[in-house]
Amino acid sequence: MVGIDSSPTLVELAREAGGYTELVCADAAELPWEAQTFDLALAFMTLHDMEDMARTVAEIARVLQRGGRFWLAIVHPLNRPPEGLDDYFEDHRFADDFERDGLRMTFEGIDRPLEAYACALARAGFLIEELREPRPTAATLASAPKLAKAAKRPYFLHLRCVLPPAH
Ligand SMILES: C[S@@+](CC[C@H](N)C(=O)[O-])C[C@H]1O[C@@H](n2cnc3c(N)ncnc32)[C@H](O)[C@@H]1O
Repeated sequence: MVGIDSSPTLVELAREAGGYTELVCADAAELPWEAQTFDLALAFMTLHDMEDMARTVAEIARVLQRGGRFWLAIVHPLNRPPEGLDDYFEDHRFADDFERDGLRMTFEGIDRPLEAYACALARAGFLIEELREPRPTAATLASAPKLAKAAKRPYFLHLRCVLPPAH
């Protein structure tokens, strides 16, 4: 299993977590691996943070073997502040400040319409096999009532895609 992130801190944390044969600190829009090397690629909560999302998706298709799968999770395109919904079809950059347990953090990203992801996947040759909008169960809500909004409006979007085998 190999991993890539453009943040040295995240790469270091992944190294500490272990389990990788190779970890690279670089832009995922230029993957440092040969074509058709892998049978599975995961992009967990990253594509919506990337400048060149479409190029990254094309790179993932390049390094996957035919029949390989690509699983991705993003912030749901409908999960954006009201001002970002003024024009759903416009890309909308955001930088949100949070403070938790004494730590100040700024989350930056790019809200894009759902179609931007579907088109990038289609152009790279992927077929979407499954689309899910995960939400808290009743049991989760009972123990974490602050997640109530997430039960009414999707926070996240999960997709499972396949690069069809060549005919
Ligand atoms: C919300 S964090 C998710 C991190 C990790 N996947 C996780 O689930 O904890 C988004 C990550 O995308 C990385 N990232 C943003 N743009 C990138 C790019 N062009 N290439 C590689 N990584 C990128 C950031 O450095 C950050 O670690």
